[in-house]
Amino acid sequence: MKKVYIETLGCQMNKSDAERMYGMLEHCGYTQTEEPKEADMLIINTCSIRQLSEDKAYSAIGVWGKWKKTNPDLKIIFAGCVAQQAGKTLFQRAPYVDLVLGTQRLYELPSLVKRIEAGERVVSVEEKPFEESDIQINRVKSINAWVPIMEGCNNFCTYCIVPYTRGRERSRKPELILSEIKKALAEGFKEITLLGQNVDSYGKDLEGWNLSRLLREVNALEGKFRIRFVTNYPTDITDELIDTVLELDKVCEYFHIPMQSGDDYTLKKMNRRYDYATYKKICDHLRSRVKDVTITSDFIAGFPGETEEQFQNTLNAMSELELDYSNTAAYSPREKTVAAKWVDKYIDEDTKTERLARLNEHNRACCLKSNKKYVGREMEVLVEKHEIRKDKSVITGRTRNNKIVHIPYDKDITGEFINVKITNARTWYLNGEMI
Ligand code: SAH
Ligand code: SF4
Ligand code: F3S
Repeated sequence: MKKVYIETLGCQMNKSDAERMYGMLEHCGYTQTEEPKEADMLIINTCSIRQLSEDKAYSAIGVWGKWKKTNPDLKIIFAGCVAQQAGKTLFQRAPYVDLVLGTQRLYELPSLVKRIEAGERVVSVEEKPFEESDIQINRVKSINAWVPIMEGCNNFCTYCIVPYTRGRERSRKPELILSEIKKALAEGFKEITLLGQNVDSYGKDLEGWNLSRLLREVNALEGKFRIRFVTNYPTDITDELIDTVLELDKVCEYFHIPMQSGDDYTLKKMNRRYDYATYKKICDHLRSRVKDVTITSDFIAGFPGETEEQFQNTLNAMSELELDYSNTAAYSPREKTVAAKWVDKYIDEDTKTERLARLNEHNRACCLKSNKKYVGREMEVLVEKHEIRKDKSVITGRTRNNKIVHIPYDKDITGEFINVKITNARTWYLNGEMI
């Protein structure tokens, strides 16, 4: 067998694509290696959410291009979100690349590999999803299996590149999703995370399906396991979905609902379809109905035109809503997007860095406050790993509401559900002891 190495940047969707590529390539005679220098085929799975991620992609293949000079049989594939946008222009920049593979052409990989093995150089970035079939997936060994249920985005937030790199929203067929989940459970996975840019959009393009129905079907599968889903668009969270989460025993009390900004004017400029009061209502409603619910978010610091006062509204929102955790980033202009054209409104780098630091400071305080709520409580933990930390044997797992817990324990019981008493709270995790 030949060897293939995949370097994955970006979000979980890309990581999930990599597991699919490894599976498809095994049928083409390639086995997975962790050592790029040993590989006969190198794949970079790129992300373009921010300039920094895009720069990383180009610098990685630069190195690989040099290797090809001494090993002309080496095949180099440029895949993922940057590939989708770059298309054939990539060949000018990186003439040593054999295949440019767009995000919507993933399942075409086996036939494209045959072509590049025959010496062709190919670009496949058509914005028409290649028909998916039931394929092998070589999952990263873990407790949690990520399962994409829909792809693409129709929202066109003014800062975001995703609608351009992943195309329009489309749902995967329920039978493919369910058969994939059954296989993952048979392989021993204990947690299933349904994945999509906007999971609430699931089924809009299928007769009779929505996220709640899919959750019910997954919940009905045999065995003890947990179900999660990410990401929710704030205003798409319906009462039916909340009822479903409450009704189904395997579905966890966890919602990731990116807010992006706590300022109404900025939200409008971002083309987000809610204001602060609306987001707050959704949050309050969730907290009143779902006991111990964890609500996490994403925020952008330094969006074009953001004033200090508007930024303060974001800090205030984070604290007022007691968000349990947030991903944060400084605004990065993305070509093609609407906000990138507002050059005269750009916030200077120093201000963005300084705002991001304050946002992170606030985030840390919110996390600690959230974690402290659970000290003294008994919680169910799914064990994810065992390791020796500072000479002590420790197991680490997560609660249903996605809190990380460290527990002193001398055996590796990865994959087991245990009951734990929380003894102490830190910013990023809880400490507990076995009951
Ligand atoms: N679909 C999800 C988010 C996908 S992108 C949603 O609607 O929320 C993940 C996160 O990256 C976004 O939530 C946003 O906070 C951040 N992001 C997207 N574009 C960005 C940009 N141009 N600069 C900085 N952060 C960005
Ligand atoms: Fe990007 Fe907005 Fe779509 Fe999320 S909803 S992927 S932030 S365009
Ligand atoms: Fe994900 Fe980055 Fe693409 S965040 S969808 S890999 S642009």
